[in-house]
Amino acid sequence: MGPGTDMYRQQILDHYKNPRNYGELEDADIEHVGENPMCGDTIKMFLKLADDGDTIAGVSFIGDGCAISQASASMLSGELRGKSLEEVRGMEREDIEEMLGVDLSPMRVKCAVLAEKVAKDGIAIHQGDKDLEETTTE
Ligand code: FES
Repeated sequence: MGPGTDMYRQQILDHYKNPRNYGELEDADIEHVGENPMCGDTIKMFLKLADDGDTIAGVSFIGDGCAISQASASMLSGELRGKSLEEVRGMEREDIEEMLGVDLSPMRVKCAVLAEKVAKDGIAIHQGDKDLEETTTE
């Protein structure tokens, strides 16, 4: 645990208790849901694209689950706006750990990356590269 961990913990709790961009985006271009099968926690992401069809103009999510999974979705919803679809698809686990700012045990990593996996799969489906009903962290 490095310096600043307490601050990041506070931030995670704050996002969990007061999630940003929570709710369904009525006119979303991309909607996708996923779950962590270990616990049944879920996240559904909604992405609205700009007129160029490639830049994320709006993001929201709904979900139910642990503090890390919900806070990660809340933080991610702020990070994704303005990014291109390729930029989001290129995100890695390290980006999520950096965003959360805490060291994650192998179990917690699945919580942390749930929203990111859902967003990436939703984009891949939108682009015709994947065909699946639901994302899982397995
Ligand atoms: Fe279920 Fe964290 S315990 S996603």
